[in-house]
Amino acid sequence: MIYESPHKTIIEDRQGEPLHLDDKNAQFSRYFYIESYGCAMNFSDSEIVASILAGEGFGSTRDIESADLILINTCSIREKAEETVRNRLKIFNALKIKKPDVLIGVLGCMAERLKANLLEQEKLVDIVVGPDAYRDLPNLIAKTDDGEKGINVLLSREETYADISPLRLESNGVVAFISIMRGCDNMCSFCVVPFTRGRERSRDPYSIVAEAKDLFDRGFRDITLLGQNVDSYHWSNPENEENVNFAMLLERVAKVHPDLRVRFSTSHPKDITDDVLLTMKAHENICKYIHLPVQSGNSRILALMNRTYDREWYIQKMESIRRILPECAVSSDMIAGFCSETEEEHQDTLSLMSWARYSMAYMFFYSERPGTPAAKKLEDDVPDEVKKRRLAEIVELQRNISLEHNQKDVGKVFKVLIEGDSKRSQDDFKGRNSQNKMLVFPKTGDYTKGQYVHVKVTKATAASLRGHIVTDHPNSKL
Ligand code: SAH
Ligand code: SF4
Ligand code: F3S
Repeated sequence: MIYESPHKTIIEDRQGEPLHLDDKNAQFSRYFYIESYGCAMNFSDSEIVASILAGEGFGSTRDIESADLILINTCSIREKAEETVRNRLKIFNALKIKKPDVLIGVLGCMAERLKANLLEQEKLVDIVVGPDAYRDLPNLIAKTDDGEKGINVLLSREETYADISPLRLESNGVVAFISIMRGCDNMCSFCVVPFTRGRERSRDPYSIVAEAKDLFDRGFRDITLLGQNVDSYHWSNPENEENVNFAMLLERVAKVHPDLRVRFSTSHPKDITDDVLLTMKAHENICKYIHLPVQSGNSRILALMNRTYDREWYIQKMESIRRILPECAVSSDMIAGFCSETEEEHQDTLSLMSWARYSMAYMFFYSERPGTPAAKKLEDDVPDEVKKRRLAEIVELQRNISLEHNQKDVGKVFKVLIEGDSKRSQDDFKGRNSQNKMLVFPKTGDYTKGQYVHVKVTKATAASLRGHIVTDHPNSKL
């Protein structure tokens, strides 16, 4: 993985890193332990689950051995993601053999995909709950207390958990996610998400703005509005004619406070509108960063993927971004070796990347997912070694593009929100600029986490920027 980003640091880098919250003084009769895998939506859901469990009197623990309830919030996006979960379940099962009273629950996309099969395959799992059924968790736990297995994998057309205030897990107190919609109606042929997360539905904008205000009041300064396809956000007030689209929602959230940075993920090239770009331009606090996954640079492959845009359409969208928001960084996702992809078509992905000059990208080789349209209709016929070689070429090219992109920032001054100490040294802060690039700089002056500073970039690698705080910048009196 090249960069840290709220969108997918999580998908890849944070895999295996458990999420918890600390109980400082409290004493509880039962404790839960939760681990999360997959995308930011899943991490956000774990915070909803934690809130539901806290309402039932559960405390949380970082110590898996002392937990009464072990939960794993799972991802099915690629085979490897499911393998990781199965390996974790083996470890949990070993614990359960030592301590038979402990309950093991599987949540999230794998629970939804495998349903009751999961209880058959993983005999020591007690509870299986899909992404729309977390409110039922207390009932399911009660059921298992009576010696039964608990399963609820019903998908909903309405559930948005709008009224549940997420318990911020493992938070740095500065950066948070807000789910604005659930599910996906897009049916990209390779993707399991429409099956694991169900139909798309948008959350009440008033509850979103209220959550953003509450976060700001509690010191948070950087929020990311989350959805699989944020540009198709659409909410209508059942009581009057009020209709809210994504551009309107973005504006309402941006107006919460000028010091609250607003990000969003993920945008879909077919749906992102000039209206959204113009709203971004109108508000300094809406970050100039768009994650706009292309998946492939070849129009025939894009059609097979059912992405509903072609290479030319994508290029036009990028041109609109450059025209309206010249300082905006764009990142992407690419899949190497999709069904029937030829060498020439792979070259089209490389040439598009060279043209697009993404600030960073998440790159995968195609992993067939059972039940998806591609698995049903297309042959997964690109040999593994070819997929891996193409992926390596994509990764290598992007590494060079990222380095070049970062080198262009040397000498520039950016407004940076301090997120905390850098990973390597307590003498350095880390923080991101509007373009979502991570900057590392020495702790000078009297600044703390959650404050904005201006940082002059002095050095660039493909992964991050180094610099120092400047106080003589025209805008530095923040
Ligand atoms: N909603 C987002 C993506 C969610 S999944 C969007 O439309 O962009 C994140 C990324 O995982 C996708 O963009 C895609 O690049 C990758 N992905 C999804 N299914 C995959 C599969 N079967 N094999 C390999 N990569 C996949
Ligand atoms: Fe999957 Fe496509 Fe929906 Fe993204 S937009 S979640 S890739 S179906
Ligand atoms: Fe994975 Fe489900 Fe997210 S499949 S990527 S956790 S929506």
